[in-house]
Amino acid sequence: MRKPVIAGNWKMHKTGPETAAFFAQIAPRVAGLEHAEVVICPPFVNVAIAVESAKSTRIEIGAQDVFWLKEGAYTGEVSAPMLAAAGCRWVIVGHSERRRCFGETEETVFKRTVAALDAGLKPIVCVGERLEQREAGRTEAVLAEQFAGGLAPLSPEQFIRVSIAYEPVWAIGTGKTATPETAAEAHRFLRERIRDKFGAHAADACRILYGGSVKPDNIKTLMAQPELDGALVGGASLDPASFFAIVNYPVSAT
Ligand code: PGA
Repeated sequence: MRKPVIAGNWKMHKTGPETAAFFAQIAPRVAGLEHAEVVICPPFVNVAIAVESAKSTRIEIGAQDVFWLKEGAYTGEVSAPMLAAAGCRWVIVGHSERRRCFGETEETVFKRTVAALDAGLKPIVCVGERLEQREAGRTEAVLAEQFAGGLAPLSPEQFIRVSIAYEPVWAIGTGKTATPETAAEAHRFLRERIRDKFGAHAADACRILYGGSVKPDNIKTLMAQPELDGALVGGASLDPASFFAIVNYPVSAT
């Protein structure tokens, strides 16, 4: 059984005081929930306050990106050992916004993933096709390329500690969620690639999250697909009530 992960990706949102206020509201509500791991990924500058605020709760903190070297003259970058020392347990790697706006490639996704693993962080590696790629019938080719470049070069010991987020780019921030069936089809395709490369055990163990306009009113039907092992949630993770409704999907309304 794969334990689901519900991870909030705050992107470039919330100040320090807003971060503390979010945790004050949500911490008591998630205290009794055992069915999923809960992660919040604030901007770097608020990692420390998030770690402090989430202390003695079930919520773990992640970063939204990581550089692949440990230290050096790289103005503006943050390394994996720094994140681990600050109390991060997770890190998002290769988000489509970083691919589109900041030149992320399969090679840099791979390097960041290795750096994260070396520091003991749990990477959530994002893959997913753009709208024109889906319309051109290239979804599987794109996922295969992203898997081959960013994930397949890992050793089996490294891969077993990685989670994947399938995030079709056309669904991110657009309100257009993939149907549960469309998402599950992509997850199955990715799981097959994992099976081919790393074997049945790795394929059965790897958690593949879905991301792209996940909301309180669609999480339950998405999670009803056995292929979906959780969600990476952007916009709907900013409000404590809506994030809690997503985390609490077994009893959320549909
Ligand atoms: P969204 O973002 O939930 O706002 O669509 C998801 C993501 O980019 O991780």
